[in-house]
Amino acid sequence: MKVMRLADSGNPGHLVEATLPDPQPAPGQVVVRIVAAGVTPTELEWYPTTHDASGAPRTGAVPSHEFSGTIASLGSDVHDFTLGQSVFGMNDWFSPGALAELCLTEASSLAPAPITIGAIEAASVPIGALTAWQGLFEHGHLHPGDRVLIHGGAGSVGHFAVQIAHLHGAHVIATASPSNFALVQQLGADELIDYHATRFEDAVTEPVDIVFDTVGGDVLLRSLPLLKPGRFAVTIASDKEGNQDPRVQHAFFIVKPHQRQLMEIAALIDTGKLRTLVDSVVPFNEAEKAYTGKIPNRAGHGKIVVAVSPAATV
Ligand SMILES: NC(=O)c1ccc[n+]([C@@H]2O[C@H](COP(=O)([O-])OP(=O)(O)OC[C@H]3O[C@@H](n4cnc5c(N)ncnc54)[C@H](OP(=O)(O)O)[C@@H]3O)[C@@H](O)[C@H]2O)c1
Repeated sequence: MKVMRLADSGNPGHLVEATLPDPQPAPGQVVVRIVAAGVTPTELEWYPTTHDASGAPRTGAVPSHEFSGTIASLGSDVHDFTLGQSVFGMNDWFSPGALAELCLTEASSLAPAPITIGAIEAASVPIGALTAWQGLFEHGHLHPGDRVLIHGGAGSVGHFAVQIAHLHGAHVIATASPSNFALVQQLGADELIDYHATRFEDAVTEPVDIVFDTVGGDVLLRSLPLLKPGRFAVTIASDKEGNQDPRVQHAFFIVKPHQRQLMEIAALIDTGKLRTLVDSVVPFNEAEKAYTGKIPNRAGHGKIVVAVSPAATV
């Protein structure tokens, strides 16, 4: 199969086209023929990109671990999917990713793709929506009526967090650039803070129940005084991985694949309750641009997607 993998040149973010053997599914696994792949640019610096699961240095990683596509082959005991079925999902960060014609994954990391959106949009959903879902419900213990402060409300995780919190009856306060205000408001934000012009701690006048930090830097620690006693701060920012501050360790989590949650997310999309935002679409042979940010005409919100198959549609 054709893949895009990290070059061993030492040049950060340099991707080269290569050919790898087609993956074969073990029991419990499936191989997906990739149509489109979602991009998390910071992934190139993450531990599983540079190390294998045993801790040894890893070279030549195939990035992108969320995708849409069709089932190409099934492990012997996988009965809940059929060959050719349209799916979306994630795969393990230590495995070769989805910048590839074929991608091996656990069947439990997939769900049937939403039927009301195309493959490009479907590929933009899994990591952003699952991270928002798990951050709000599993780590933030969201309840209707909660006041939720979301840092980075127009980002590929943040725009799902705004919508899911709003759908669950929260009062949503989001930070964003003014160019994204109208959009984030449409998605369900009740209050918007321009992080360029205002310190959010000055704008948030009453305590909040949940802080959801997608930004990093000092944002989490500056947010903690705004929290009601006994409530929750979560952070996903990549610069927090490995941070030893106990307050950060307590708040940081990494998204996990989850079939039932993906199915609930697909149902929300298909009933028009949840939208996904695509920032831009990059052709497979130019995938490197998705990681270096050198993309013309970006929307400025949501996810960058690589069209792995020429048949990929929005
Ligand atoms: N732990 C996990 O499981 C996990 C999962 C997914 C992603 N991540 C990490 O989470 C982070 C965010 O990912 P993403 O894909 O959502 O990124 P993204 O799509 O690039 O969005 C980031 C958003 O942050 C906003 N922003 C930038 N600086 C800000 C500031 N100082 N204050 C408030 N907002 C600010 C931007 O808003 P404007 O455009 O409105 O200016 C942008 O929309 C990355 O570090 C990524 O690696 C972690």
